[in-house]
Amino acid sequence: MILLQHAADLKKLLDTKRQANLTIGFVPTMGALHQGHLSLINRSKSENSITVCSIYVNPTQFNDPKDLEKYPRPIEHDIEILSAAHCDVLFLPLTEEVYPGGLNKLKHYELGHLENFLEGASRPGHFNGVANVVDRLLQFVQPDRLYLGQKDFQQVKVIEKVVTGLKPAIVMCPIVREADGLAMSSRNVRLNEVQRKNAAGISHQLFFIRDHGKEFPLAELKQQAVERINSIPEAQVDYLEFCDAEKFTLINNWKDAPKIVCVTSVLVGGVRLLDNMLLY
Ligand code: PAJ
Repeated sequence: MILLQHAADLKKLLDTKRQANLTIGFVPTMGALHQGHLSLINRSKSENSITVCSIYVNPTQFNDPKDLEKYPRPIEHDIEILSAAHCDVLFLPLTEEVYPGGLNKLKHYELGHLENFLEGASRPGHFNGVANVVDRLLQFVQPDRLYLGQKDFQQVKVIEKVVTGLKPAIVMCPIVREADGLAMSSRNVRLNEVQRKNAAGISHQLFFIRDHGKEFPLAELKQQAVERINSIPEAQVDYLEFCDAEKFTLINNWKDAPKIVCVTSVLVGGVRLLDNMLLY
């Protein structure tokens, strides 16, 4: 695996690959890698000649400075994991190249309703920060395909808006879960043993909705799921909603959209956990 820090070096390397007609798959991450990230790497490897992974803990998408400070950064371990997965290139960009104008000179992206909706409502500025970093990383890598996890469903919708045109194609990969159902996340390590065990209850509500939901009206399902999650010790639902999976707007009835996604965000002991379920 080749490790690079400077965008110019990355461009030089990737230009030679492009000239040889090789395809490039890109997996942007913030590190603290787990099987969820690796599923994106593996998918990219199976569909491209070259896979580039980036690790960059993007300061502009954290609206809580404590969250940024506490974000895990096990870089040596991440390098081992990526080498073992035969990732071709690891890009570790520098803040001065990602944000040449400084962290306070962000571009504003027109994200429409996505900006202040659900996850965006609870985290002002978050998606604009994501848009800034992903757009910049895409300029550096210029991949044929961009690999994103369904785990951050709203983020996929945001990035679809940022990326217009044919390239890169966006590939949304399914959520990888722990054996008890909890969606894998770099934040899970911040849960203590009891919180970690209890957090699996979030996914169990989504499984119930997937398996039995069609028998009930959406309002009833929502009320029941919120009540059950809130009854988990230290858990507090921020939102749990049913959306049109294409437009990502709220719906009230099963017949309101052909493809529906149930999205939720729950604080467990103050740690924000996201999960969702596609219902089609
Ligand atoms: P990060 O949270 O590190 O996630 C990197 C990618 O891995 C995202 O596309 C995310 O959706 C995916 N992912 C995380 N957990 C997953 C799981 N359990 N199953 C499948 N995929 C999973 O998302 C970010 O970083 C950042 O916002 C980023 C896009 C890198 C911009 O800074």
